[in-house]
Amino acid sequence: MNTPKPLRKAVVPVAGLGTRFLPVTKATPKEMLPIVDRPVIQYVVEEAVAAGITDLLFVTGRAKRALEDHFDYNGELERMLEDRGDLEKLAAVRGPAQLARIHYARQGTPAGLGHAVLCAQSHIGDENFAVLLGDEIIPSDENVLKKMFAIQEQYGGSVLLLKKVPPSEISRYGVAAVKSTNESSIVEITDLVEKPSLTDAPSDLAVLGRYVLNPAIFEILLNTKPGKGGEIQLTDAIQVLARDSSNSSDTKVHGLVYQGERFDTGEIFGYLTSTVELATRREDIGVEFKDWLKKFVQGL
Ligand code: UTP
Repeated sequence: MNTPKPLRKAVVPVAGLGTRFLPVTKATPKEMLPIVDRPVIQYVVEEAVAAGITDLLFVTGRAKRALEDHFDYNGELERMLEDRGDLEKLAAVRGPAQLARIHYARQGTPAGLGHAVLCAQSHIGDENFAVLLGDEIIPSDENVLKKMFAIQEQYGGSVLLLKKVPPSEISRYGVAAVKSTNESSIVEITDLVEKPSLTDAPSDLAVLGRYVLNPAIFEILLNTKPGKGGEIQLTDAIQVLARDSSNSSDTKVHGLVYQGERFDTGEIFGYLTSTVELATRREDIGVEFKDWLKKFVQGL
């Protein structure tokens, strides 16, 4: 019997324009905005590495240079910290460059998330792979990716991460039509709709920014026309897989229904609440920050 290859490659699309964050995103990628002292994207990459990813491809675009520098060495800065004997800062500065084998592909025009994933085709080849959106933080200790990898191994095909969202938020997401399985947290996905109106939404289960995809997705993406917002949508390509009735192990799509935490830093309100919540959990400044926050709130 063939043992399936362990999932080791991840794609992290970071080529979007970040228009909800303008003007800061004019020259700074939104994925490089700090949550305390680390950029958002570092939390995402650390989560991938904690799940066993060793090879990571960023799909980048214009104005993403800062991100490339962050995951590279900085000889001058490292020598200065070494000379000062500041080993803690030295480790913090070198850390991002040592997380995984990091590669880059350019997405010439930000033509949509599906198009960004298609830019990874030659790097991924015929392996199953993970996709992590670079502006969404899921705490590593939730082990979400590891659970998704296990579901992929059990059922084959592709696996999405789903979360119940309130009706007021449904039109911001891709939404799944599902059938139950023997396991309460795992569903079979039979259809998907990108950013539906409340009346068109097939359920209250929204697709979050973590995917495990079968390479069959690439052929479909090649033929996917621009959808909502004039962009080539990843949801539309996965919809083709989900609707496929051949029951082939490549085209099945399952969902992990997630009830834990996630931090959507891609828009201003979510970014602010994520910063406050994650700052209160820090070992170094958390207690002091919470005390200040309580006093601040009492004064409002
Ligand atoms: P978003 O839609 O949240 O990012 O895509 P955006 O387009 O940059 O944001 P707004 O709507 O203009 O504010 C989710 C992720 O997919 C990447 C983004 O960089 C983000 O991390 N993305 C999106 C691409 O890499 N390429 C694209 O064409 C679109």
